Amino acid sequence: MQEQWIVFDNDATGSLITALATDARLGARAIARFSPELETALHETFHYEKHRCGGYTLHLSRAAAEVEAANPFYSDNYLNRPLAVPCRIDQQADVVPALELVDTEHIIGTIECLQDMGTRYYDSDAGQDAALELEARWSDYGIGRSDFSVTRFEHPWKQDSVIASIKGAALPGEIVVIGGHLDSINKCNQSVAPGADDNASGIAAVSEVLRVVLAYGFRPQRTLQFMAYAAEEVGLRGSCAIAEEYKRAAKNVVAALQLDMTGFSGSPHDMYFVNDYVSRPLTDFLKKLIGEYNRQGPHEITFGDTDCGYACSDHVAWTRVGVPAAFPFEALFSDYNKEIHTARDLLRKLDKTGTKQACFAKLGIEFMMEISTSRTAMER
Ligand code: BES
Ligand code: ZN
Repeated sequence: MQEQWIVFDNDATGSLITALATDARLGARAIARFSPELETALHETFHYEKHRCGGYTLHLSRAAAEVEAANPFYSDNYLNRPLAVPCRIDQQADVVPALELVDTEHIIGTIECLQDMGTRYYDSDAGQDAALELEARWSDYGIGRSDFSVTRFEHPWKQDSVIASIKGAALPGEIVVIGGHLDSINKCNQSVAPGADDNASGIAAVSEVLRVVLAYGFRPQRTLQFMAYAAEEVGLRGSCAIAEEYKRAAKNVVAALQLDMTGFSGSPHDMYFVNDYVSRPLTDFLKKLIGEYNRQGPHEITFGDTDCGYACSDHVAWTRVGVPAAFPFEALFSDYNKEIHTARDLLRKLDKTGTKQACFAKLGIEFMMEISTSRTAMER
């Protein structure tokens, strides 16, 4: 068939979106050729019509766009694929006392510290200051442990990603990841982007998982990695760079949990599992963990299901390279905190007691401790 390149004028961008949406209903993706100026128009129209930024990806060649459109890892076949690590839940003797160490004040303190940095925009000095601050905090949590390290992952922009590792005692080559994005954005004024919910709240929960796992003195069998991704808000760039580098280096990530927005109580349940672009077996495992630890008594977490409808956060960077990923979210997608990406994304709109955010930290602790160490997982 003759190749067709369609270039839309600014005032026709809306038609392209309609065409894309029609194709999406049919389960297809569409490729179009754009000039850089049109990207701005597309972005604005998307905001206006769809109330979001994502929903399309830019590629520097037609070949790269075709590879992404045909990516097999977005298919139901892959998303339903059983996990490589069989997981039984059998670490209750360590998980229950570790959960007791979760400190809501500490979670709130991390959110305040990050929101008060002014901006964490990915290509700003302040954005890099946030990475250095987090590196220092994370390093403090693990002082004196020889199996613990914190590194910065550099990118071709100012802000680094930050990665903390606890080396597995038995299977160090198998990596379990928990992460969230460190950067923030304000579409009107990038110097005022407090990003308390999006995503200081996720970073605060990831930090609390790390702090508790170390404070408890847990020794995982598999390697645990804690990631604060740079540049999510401009197209998952930091997480995609890391996931691609791990793939290139044949690093074996067995599962990845994404925490992005954990503090706004917009819907009745404590959390909602995003069901698109995620591993269904991993999502089911997380629900089982909540059920088990509700029964054990240390918490009473309620949950539901939701859909983003597009590649909305860094879990997709892992899904994209074939790593099972999951994404529990603060509310139904339709009820999300509408102050994100503005100067009003502040702690005062969130659960100021930290109880909501602590639910995500607790699930993170259960996930990291069980999937890295459960006996069945070791027997495989
Ligand atoms: N935290 C948001 C994603 C989000 C927003 C999920 C609302 C659920 C409800 C994330 O930081 C974000 O803003 N993502 C962009 C897309 C990204 C590829 C640039 C978005 O949703 O516009
Ligand atoms: Zn965002």
